[in-house]
Amino acid sequence: MKTESNADLTHFNTFAFPCDAKVLYSIDSDEDLPLLRQELRNAPCLILGGGSNFLLPEKLDCAVAHINIKGKKLVNENDRRCLLEVAAGENWHEFVQWTVSQGLWGIENLALIPGSVGAAPVQNIGAYGVELSNVIDWVEFYHLKTGEFIRLTPGECQFSYRQSIFKTELKDAAVITRVGLRLTRTPNPQLDYGPLQSFQHSDNLTPAFIAAKVAEIRQSKLPDPGVLGNAGSFFKNPIISDEHYRVIKQAFPDVIAYPQQKQWKLAAGWLIEKVNFKGLRKGAVGVHQHQALVLVHFGGGKSEQLLALAKEIQQTVQSTFGVLLEKEVRTYPFCG
Ligand code: FAD
Ligand code: EPU
Repeated sequence: MKTESNADLTHFNTFAFPCDAKVLYSIDSDEDLPLLRQELRNAPCLILGGGSNFLLPEKLDCAVAHINIKGKKLVNENDRRCLLEVAAGENWHEFVQWTVSQGLWGIENLALIPGSVGAAPVQNIGAYGVELSNVIDWVEFYHLKTGEFIRLTPGECQFSYRQSIFKTELKDAAVITRVGLRLTRTPNPQLDYGPLQSFQHSDNLTPAFIAAKVAEIRQSKLPDPGVLGNAGSFFKNPIISDEHYRVIKQAFPDVIAYPQQKQWKLAAGWLIEKVNFKGLRKGAVGVHQHQALVLVHFGGGKSEQLLALAKEIQQTVQSTFGVLLEKEVRTYPFCG
């Protein structure tokens, strides 16, 4: 296990805000985890993957563990499915590319999502009509409190929209080490989501083709963090009651919403655009011009400026629509 004191995390977060961490541990293998537990002696520790869903403070007074465990393999295969095992420190998009190059179906719609495999179950990553929970077989983690390696079934992970047990009961206590995925060689294209519908009648669809189309669509509206600091959608799309939806629909007939059993999921990007924040810049931070749900850092700014902008957006959306936008990006304070 490598250890670095007063580590600079500027390049460990896709917002590229400067952050000075008290101590940074690099976890390269399962064997490092009991050592980490010994070092921490129950003190809080922030578990870090690619830093693409974090807003970090200028100074972080707790330990940070960067998960860098590598490896992937096909565990077994029958005529219905392939079971794959992949380690937490693998890059998610590179893993998707590898599966589609093998002709495997299941995660092609999740192409180009930044970050690590280990973080993917934490918020149950989702895009273009597919969620990770659709293909998860198990999630393995190391429990920092008890020192055990444990495997959870998808049911035990309590997955829902941008949610799992790793954000609640097991928050900051479970270091995800490996994930088991069930993919298939039988064609199973998921093309119901808006811009993908035009491929529904195409012949000879392959997972690689769909992954490439998803990547194209994403590149046309989401900023590349390598060029412009961001962490994807800053807020979740809010889910509201049918009664509340009717009130909004009456006042704003063009509201964009999707039915969810007896509730509605509102397009937060639409709400933010409607209150005129889209494309707005405040010094070093702002709202992306093509996607109002994405807050951006132009460089040279501080994360407090972005937090202040996020708060202003929340207050304006709340007073206009009576809807509280919940943050999707993890913001400080941590370590508590
Ligand atoms: P980090 O940001 O490092 O961590 C995120 C959370 O996971 C933290 O709470 C952290 O403590 C925890 N964590 C990280 N690794 C582990 C581990 N090994 N064990 C336990 N906990 C861990 N998300 C989507 O769902 N869909 C999208 O379409 C999408 N698009 C995006 C587009 C852009 C341009 C960007 C910048 C982000 C986007 N995201 C999207 C958000 C982000 O990519 C995902 O949340 C991703 O899974 C975060 O991975 P990470 O390794 O960077 O996690
Ligand atoms: N919209 C607007 N104005 C905007 C942005 C969007 O009116 O500025 C409208 C669009 O026209 C569309 C609807 O809102 O009708 C939905 O927009 P989009 O398809 O771009 O998706 P989203 O709901 O904004 C969600 C995820 C993304 C994911 C995409 C594709 C959340 C919080 N975000 O965004 O995930 O990539 O769907 O599936 O659920 C992320 O989590 O970081 C992320 C990028």
